[in-house]
Amino acid sequence: MKQSIAVRPAALAIAAAIAIAAYPLTSSADGDSQSQIQRGYQINPVPLNLAGKNRALVGLGSYIVNTGGCNDCHTSPSYATGGNPFLGEPEQINTAVFLAGGQRFGPFVSANLTPDALGHPAGLTFDEFKTLLRTGHDPDAAIGTPPLQVMPWPAFGKKTDRDLRAIYEYLSAIPSLPDNPPPPPGP
Ligand code: HEC
Repeated sequence: MKQSIAVRPAALAIAAAIAIAAYPLTSSADGDSQSQIQRGYQINPVPLNLAGKNRALVGLGSYIVNTGGCNDCHTSPSYATGGNPFLGEPEQINTAVFLAGGQRFGPFVSANLTPDALGHPAGLTFDEFKTLLRTGHDPDAAIGTPPLQVMPWPAFGKKTDRDLRAIYEYLSAIPSLPDNPPPPPGP
């Protein structure tokens, strides 16, 4: 009797130590991903077509895209009239042309990232999309074409396969829009 009382707390203490060591890693990784997915849905500014999509990936993709600055370069103008946070106005993303491209950076123009008629964001298959973000090279471009010059692909391309898949899944779910033409070159 005495012995079993002594053994049990020891065994429990060991079990607890193992649980404490293992718990923060696994549970906070899952918790992070869950809270990112939730936040992704909260901050998504447009109606989503979720048919046939992996909802967790769409949520995570929204989180990455809408906290990753894609809107600031790929929506032109990025904010609706009266909704520009840089002017101290309450933020209102320009959903009418959300991620439809058309922003000018010197000789370069940001691409339309919305899905094409086949549902492919920017007209790219996932393999093409992944190669492009990892290498800066559009797999369809002629040999010798320089890598993308404005797009921060060296940073975004370091994301995990799952993150890139999530970005792609989200971009497949946003409204499909025609190319947004850039304004004429400035003075
Ligand atoms: C600093 C501005 C900037 C930011 C931020 C940015 N992009 Fe880009 N992106 C561009 C420009 C400009 C192009 C056109 C190619 C070039 O000149 O670099 C481009 C091209 C692309 C392309 C290639 C499209 C094609 O068909 O060739 C993809 C895909 C893309 N961006 C996705 C994204 C995603 C996703 C994000 C956010 C995670 C993002 N971009 C953030 C500026 C930006």
